[in-house]
Amino acid sequence: MSNYAIILAAGKGTRMKSDLPKVLHKVAGISMLEHVFRAVSAIQPAKIQTIVGHKAELVEAVLAGQSDFALQSEQLGTGHAVMMADPALAGLEGHTLVIAGDTPLITGESLQNLINFHISHKNVATILTAQADNPFGYGRIIRNTDGEVLKIVEQKDANDFEKQIKEINTGTYLFDNKRLFEALKELNTDNAQGEYYLTDVISIFRQAGEKVGAYVLRDFDESLGVNDRIALATAEQVMRKRINASHMVNGVTFTQPDATYIDIDVTIGAEAVIEANVVLKGQTTIGERAVLTNGTRVVDSQIGADVVISNSDIEHAVIADHVTVGPYAHIRPDSSLATGVHIGNFVEVKGSSIGENSKAGHLTYIGNAEVGSDVNFGAGTITVNYDGKHKFKTVIGNNVFIGSNSTLIAPLTIEDNALTAAGSTITKDVGTDTVAIGRARQENKDGYAKRLPHHPTRK
Ligand code: UD1
Ligand code: MG
Repeated sequence: MSNYAIILAAGKGTRMKSDLPKVLHKVAGISMLEHVFRAVSAIQPAKIQTIVGHKAELVEAVLAGQSDFALQSEQLGTGHAVMMADPALAGLEGHTLVIAGDTPLITGESLQNLINFHISHKNVATILTAQADNPFGYGRIIRNTDGEVLKIVEQKDANDFEKQIKEINTGTYLFDNKRLFEALKELNTDNAQGEYYLTDVISIFRQAGEKVGAYVLRDFDESLGVNDRIALATAEQVMRKRINASHMVNGVTFTQPDATYIDIDVTIGAEAVIEANVVLKGQTTIGERAVLTNGTRVVDSQIGADVVISNSDIEHAVIADHVTVGPYAHIRPDSSLATGVHIGNFVEVKGSSIGENSKAGHLTYIGNAEVGSDVNFGAGTITVNYDGKHKFKTVIGNNVFIGSNSTLIAPLTIEDNALTAAGSTITKDVGTDTVAIGRARQENKDGYAKRLPHHPTRK
């Protein structure tokens, strides 16, 4: 029988106090909605309907091409949200998973367990539940003395006895698809919030004498529903722990996993060492045996094997094997460093490619440059790439030696084996095997210092 899925993502998320729709807030680098979508995809539904409403265009953009959408133009409750899927799903044979878009920690594995439980118990509806130490804010699962599920009571509608119940509704359910859409027609808004509660379909089934049940998650963490930024931070923490644990299982060493921040899509090769306060974001890959020391931050970059990055920032860059970077270097977007390159302290590279084994050890800015292999940049080299309006390119061949404190005024080409003298301002192209000296000749005036105020004889 086919599976279908409905993701509820139309709400504003008032408690977030945010301009951004709640489900677009990120956990470990991707939106909560994408986390939910990935878990849902694991059960391979034949159709996925995402219910959008508040700032629908923003929400749809995140899952464009992956989900179908139904618009809930007024947010009248979770039951009303599911009704919006009626045109696409009502009457179809199969099971339908309904899941809230604000529960980013639920795994595909748990959803599969829910389906298996639902099928083996021949239920019309199965609620995914969990035992919460602090159930405040969640719907509570009301069972009879035989342990059978009777209904769900929302926090705002619960009496004192019901508020004591620790079994909560995670907001995820499996339904017989046809019966779901029939039961939705019987919902009303006769409750504390004046909304159409999806949760009320449970008692509707029960009253019709149909079998409902609950599958209890072993791990409460998975059920976390993010309604405010405190829960968002908790979700981030739990997700980060999971991510770090999976890397450790794969052979990556962490010196302080609690203080290491890695987004969900980052990949790390075996035997890499990740020290404390390292941040790896977005679509980043780290090669085998790489060492990232304290304070390194890498965003959307590919880092090769055996690379050492010390306390540096890398953004949108490609770094080949056996490169060393830092400490305190900044590799900015659209830069590539070939095998064996060394970028040392206080060096910034932007929009440049640097060839094999080239080195810039100290206090250098390389911007909009194409640099060959075995080039040495002396300390304090600056590519002058910007005239206040336009950016210009510097092209440097192989085996070039740039003297310390050279100012290279772009556009400029320096050909193979050339050398620029220290302290030069280079404004003209330099040919192969050429030495370029661009500085005033030194003049020494013998004895002249005695005439100046700093001299000890004049103090
Ligand atoms: C809901 C459940 C509660 C459960 C909790 C789990 C109901 C009535 N209550 O409460 O039992 O314990 O989730 O986290 O279902 N949404 C819409 N349209 C609407 C209203 C909500 O699409 O008109 C979406 C929201 O965007 C959100 C999800 O449904 O992704 C849940 O809504 P939310 O307001 O967070 O419900 P809770 O109060 O958390
Ligand atoms: Mg919620």
